[in-house]
Amino acid sequence: MNKDTPINAEIVNKKLAANNIDSVGKASIREIKKLVDDIEKESGERFVRMEMGIPGLPASEIGVNAEIEALKNGVASTYPDIQGIPKLKTEMSRFVKNFLNVEVAPEHCLPTVGSMQGGFAAFMTTTRMHKDKDTVLFIDPGFPVQKMQCQVLGIPYETFDVYNYRGDKLEEKLEAYLSKGNISTIIYSNPNNPSWICFTDKELQIIGKMANKYDVVIIEDLAYIGMDFRKDISKPGEPPYQDTVAQYTDNYIMLISSSKSFSYAGQRVGMFIIADALYEKKCPDLKRFYNSEGFGHNLLFSTIYPLSAGTSHAPQYGLAAMLKAVNDGEYNFIEEVKEYGEKAKIMKKLFTDNGFEIVYDKDEDQPIADGFYFTISYPGLDGEELIHKLVFYGISAISLDITGSERTEGLRACVSLVSRNQFPDLENRLIQFHKDHKNLK
Ligand SMILES: Cc1ncc(COP(=O)(O)O)c(C=O)c1O
Repeated sequence: MNKDTPINAEIVNKKLAANNIDSVGKASIREIKKLVDDIEKESGERFVRMEMGIPGLPASEIGVNAEIEALKNGVASTYPDIQGIPKLKTEMSRFVKNFLNVEVAPEHCLPTVGSMQGGFAAFMTTTRMHKDKDTVLFIDPGFPVQKMQCQVLGIPYETFDVYNYRGDKLEEKLEAYLSKGNISTIIYSNPNNPSWICFTDKELQIIGKMANKYDVVIIEDLAYIGMDFRKDISKPGEPPYQDTVAQYTDNYIMLISSSKSFSYAGQRVGMFIIADALYEKKCPDLKRFYNSEGFGHNLLFSTIYPLSAGTSHAPQYGLAAMLKAVNDGEYNFIEEVKEYGEKAKIMKKLFTDNGFEIVYDKDEDQPIADGFYFTISYPGLDGEELIHKLVFYGISAISLDITGSERTEGLRACVSLVSRNQFPDLENRLIQFHKDHKNLK
């Protein structure tokens, strides 16, 4: 390693050893975070931190104030109803109508302790609906913790990287998996963490068609709802709407996190939306685990209940107030988070001007949107080598390897924690990196 890297190489090597890390590319996100914290502390240099997907914007005051008021009114002392407070259920139902053009009864809109709990509850229940269908199919790349959830639940899963199966090719690929008969559930995120690809309407139509043909439940993870800024979905009740598989099948669960779109990660409250028809579905095989056959009933009273006995009371009031404001057209939640897309545009250019390439760069024939994440590679280096080297240049990210991506040359960069006043540093570090490595090609 060149001795004159922007971050003192001796300090980096010392901290790598102290944290028992041989290769940054093999470390987990939390290990990388700790390593960078240690290096920053000793070197006094600030990193361009792109490893963690945490929101970098303040939470909306509307939510915070509603929570304070609810707490003052005494909600802390009582258990919340398992199905959620009525006000929140009504606003969730309005929200999916206003921004996705989908009708779901308030009864089937449930709060969960973040989409993290939503995913866990969904996996547990959907994989028990039919005794011969116990497997989850991940359309990858994806959010690694969801595979961890399957692992700890003992649920088998299969996965494929969608990179080479965009557009019409997706149908044949899905057929190959679903025709085996063991898949109960398909999950993907849209916009996608980590690649920021967004499925086109044609692709969502294919996924919906397959869900109907093979009676498979789609878990559509909309953690970044509305953040495909190529399309402004911010006007309630007016097109364009967020693209969703719900237009093409009644066999869906939507997980709509409040963490990113509403900068509300700390309150751990998310929306769990079950299609009316799926909620009412009767599955005799569920009786192996539950007392009754009803899918929605079991999900709520026999899965969410034993997991956490519902969702914290005050955050439900906070989310209800924010949703009411967006549904009434008084608060534009998209406007608040547009900053991520604007930063991504500038940062992507700094990378590509200095020899880097965007790994997942297209939605069929369209360039992908600028948003919360983007993916990068550098010719001549694999992802593991690249991330290791970048640490010496004061830049941190994560390897795509851990996301189910087959593009092992790639890294995921998250824009949220990088402030605009760091762009000159980022540029200078990338210029130097390129100067030091361009002969690799
Ligand atoms: C794709 C995806 N799903 C779910 C989550 C978790 O959301 P929540 O904070 O609501 O649990 C995240 C958070 O990063 C995510 O990226």
